[in-house]
Amino acid sequence: MLPFKIDLSDKVIAVTGGGGVLCGEMAKALAECGAKVAVLSRKQENADTVADAILASGGQALAVSCNVLELDSITAAYEKISSQLGDCDILINGAGGNSPDGTADLETVDSEDIKSQLDKSFFGLTAEGISFVFDLNFTGTVLTTQVFAKAMSEKGQGSIINISSMAAYHPLTKVMSYSASKAAINNFTEWLAVHLAPTGVRVNAIAPGFFLTKQNEQLLMGDNNTPTERCQKIIDHTPMGRLGKADELIGALLYLASEDASGFVTGTVMAVDGGFNAYSGV
Ligand SMILES: NC(=O)c1ccc[n+]([C@@H]2O[C@H](COP(=O)([O-])OP(=O)(O)OC[C@H]3O[C@@H](n4cnc5c(N)ncnc54)[C@H](O)[C@@H]3O)[C@@H](O)[C@H]2O)c1
Repeated sequence: MLPFKIDLSDKVIAVTGGGGVLCGEMAKALAECGAKVAVLSRKQENADTVADAILASGGQALAVSCNVLELDSITAAYEKISSQLGDCDILINGAGGNSPDGTADLETVDSEDIKSQLDKSFFGLTAEGISFVFDLNFTGTVLTTQVFAKAMSEKGQGSIINISSMAAYHPLTKVMSYSASKAAINNFTEWLAVHLAPTGVRVNAIAPGFFLTKQNEQLLMGDNNTPTERCQKIIDHTPMGRLGKADELIGALLYLASEDASGFVTGTVMAVDGGFNAYSGV
């Protein structure tokens, strides 16, 4: 159920991470507004599932496998979309995620921990682990934007919507590389908005708070479906007192996608977070 409807008929919209939970919802909402949606996912079957659901409900969609870390793969995806759906009008950079390899096991350490549990601290992180997470979220967004936004810039219209996180503003304990990468996404959103402003291409981001998805269900809810200690900390720090639902991102998405609604909006990062970012904890 859409919060409101905008007219996206004839618009071609590419959604990376479109086979995932949050961006799958976004892909479906955009299709419901009439867009031709390219659902990009690293795994073809995940893209197929979302594209099939869109087609089954009468929308237009194309499933495309794409690894946002490989320029050849992004270029091949772009060419497939251009030839089968037409020139891309809007790009949603949703592919991203975290990995234990970019995450410290301990929230904080004292001098004793450094001696006895070095591997579980910041000092145990490897260059490979840090780069893997950073590149997935940051470099993947930058490379995909280079490929997709060039024609938009030549044409003089288009919109890029990056997916940031609350971790961009205040790094989450343990979550080192992901937090840094999402901070870089906010910075890049502003940088590119300025760089491309004379072309007419707008660049914005959505920063979701904490949303329950299949991927983080175990981490947030544990085995018996009650909030884990970490999840309870998140809820306690969210003035609205709960986690978000995927469809609660759709209003911000449609606003930023609509030239009529946000035609003079570029370089913004819009938090959809139940007040998490506004709350100091006191
Ligand atoms: N779930 C949350 O609470 C939350 C909060 C803030 C931000 N986010 C961000 O929202 C976006 C979607 O997250 P989600 O929670 O729906 O997770 P998800 O795991 O369901 O979706 C992530 C998608 O990215 C894709 N992906 C991963 N590596 C890729 C690669 N190399 N190339 C192409 N695609 C790749 C995955 O296949 C998946 O489809 C991510 O950028 C995430 O960081 C999520």
